Order: sequence, then C-alpha cells, then structure tokens
Amino acid sequence: LLELIGKREMGADVLVVPGDVTNKACPEGLQHGWQLMMEVCAALRAQALVGTIGNHDVNVLKKGGREPLELPKNAHPTFPVPDSPEGFWSDGIWVRQYNRLEIVSINSIADFDEQKCKRGHLRTGLIDKLRERLQISNGCVRIAICHHHPTLHSGMNMGTDDVLEQGDQLLETLGELGFSLLIHGHKHSARLIKSPHGGHLYILASGALSGLCVRDGLRTNVRNLFHLVTLDPVSGAGSPCRGLVETWQFMQDYGWRPALQGATHFPATTGFGAQRTPHELAASTAEWFDSQGLLVQPWNAVIESESEVRYLTPQEFREYEQTLLQDYGVEVWRNEDGLLRSIGRPSGGGPK
Ligand SMILES: [Fe+2]
Repeated sequence: LLELIGKREMGADVLVVPGDVTNKACPEGLQHGWQLMMEVCAALRAQALVGTIGNHDVNVLKKGGREPLELPKNAHPTFPVPDSPEGFWSDGIWVRQYNRLEIVSINSIADFDEQKCKRGHLRTGLIDKLRERLQISNGCVRIAICHHHPTLHSGMNMGTDDVLEQGDQLLETLGELGFSLLIHGHKHSARLIKSPHGGHLYILASGALSGLCVRDGLRTNVRNLFHLVTLDPVSGAGSPCRGLVETWQFMQDYGWRPALQGATHFPATTGFGAQRTPHELAASTAEWFDSQGLLVQPWNAVIESESEVRYLTPQEFREYEQTLLQDYGVEVWRNEDGLLRSIGRPSGGGPK
C-alpha cells in the first residue's frame, strides 16, 4: 500500500479507519495494526489519523480478567482518535475540523454484552449530544465514521441481524445536520448508497482491510480494499457535497490494483452526490453521442461531455448504463480489467 501511495503520489487531509484494527481483542494486533495505519497516514501526508473502535478491538470476553475497554484505551495514545479522546469515551462522539472538513467519530460499542457488541449499540443520549454539538452549520463539509452499519447490509449472505440499533435515528440525524458522508466498517463487503433516511447523506461501507481476507474462504467473496475519497462541495455552506471514490484491491502475488467489480462487487471508480438523475444523464450522453456522428467514443470523452456521470453511485451507474442501452441503443464497454473503456452502438445499430 505504501508503494501504491508513493507511485501514485496520493495525498489526503485525513486517513479514516473505521475500527476492527485487530482480531478477537489481540493486543499485539491492535498495536501493530495502528502502527501500520500511522505509516500509511504519514505516506499520505495526512493531517490526522481518525479511527473508531470495532467489536474486535474490545475485550468483550474479559480475557485475562481485564475490563473490555482496557485494551483500546491503552493500545496507543492516538488510538482511536488523535487527541483528547475523553469525549469519545464519555459521550461516544469526537468532533474535529481539518480545513473545511468536519469529522465526527462515533463509538458504536456502548454495551459489552457479546451480541450487542457484535451488532452495535449507541450510548444513551448520543444522538442528542450530536444535535447539541453540531446544531449550527459552520460551512464545513461534514463526514462521520462509525464501526457498525446503520442500515441493513445483507449482501453475499452476510446476515441480517447485526444492523446497528438506532441506526435509522442516527442516519436521520446526520441527514438533518447536513452530513455528506458516513463511512463504516464491520461488514467485509464494500457498498456506497444514498441514506434511506433523508438529507444529502451517503453511506460508504468501506469493506475489509484485514488478514482474514487472505485466509479461509473469505477472499472468494471480498478483497482487501483501500479508498481515496475526493470531496467536492457544490456551493457553500449547508449545500450538498459531491464526491469521487477511487478504490484499489489487494491480491496475494499481484499486489494493489484498481478494484474489480467481479471480485469485490465494487468498481474502481465511482462517486456520490450527482445533481442529475441517471435517466437525465443517459439522455444527455445519448444526445451528445449522436451529435458527434461516430460509432465509438472513448470513456474520457463521455466524461468530458458530461462530468456529472462520475458522481453516480454504483447502483445509479447501473441504471444509467441500462437506460443508455434500452432507451438509446448505446452500450458501455469495459476493458479486460473491467475498467470503463468506451461507448458505442453494437454493429448495425442506430439511434432508437
Ligand atoms: Fe466488526
């Protein structure tokens, strides 16, 4: 990953790690994992490494007769947040600003019952605290991170019973407070969707960055992933924010490469916050394509003609692609690595 960051000259304001740095409360794993995250943070020249705790970072079984939070509280002075973690432990939230970005880390492990820890549980009063702290919009783009998924995430037979308690209320509140993005972990499969509970909020399930992905059968379904999110405020305070998401996957013996939809169920490039619908964008692309009078156009030219297409979520992009084909007879073609290559009409086809 450090090589990939160096080669691509990647940079970031903040590195976000949404919990489960270790496995089954292994102290060495947590310390070593966080140390590695610090190296990644330095390589990105990021101002801060902001995490939260996952169910595996907590000693829920009280191994060695130790209290559940003893491990995460003593793992490293900067874990899970870079400074003054008191609010994170007492209220379950931690808020900081970095340039025009406001980031909120949420502790979704407020109960140490094994099942609740696995499912995710918010501290009583956490949502009220969020409203108190973030009531007034300050012109920043707001993003939140927590470990558990706040809305059902049942793909690839990964279960339906471990969705965060009060997840709907959390999403509703983040939407009302003008948040643009919630990044969560826990599920090993990545996903990017619009919040089903209002506002301009999108939810990025980051997928895994875990040793488990190179063991057992897990890698038949998922890959280790790394995302670079570029936020693009549309116009001033309180307005929606768009974003581009580039994703790389790790494969043993092949290293880090752009994510493959077929392997990760997540594309190498996607986005969120498009200001126009997939149908409107498909109509616009088809009109531009016909105006050019060529049989094929490279994908870069499509983007130059209508850059908003880049901000469609994976699901919206599928709708855009289907509409282009079904309503206008224009097909999207990919190269052998699954990356978008060009659009055109299958031979013999004309405008519908
Ligand atoms: Fe987890």
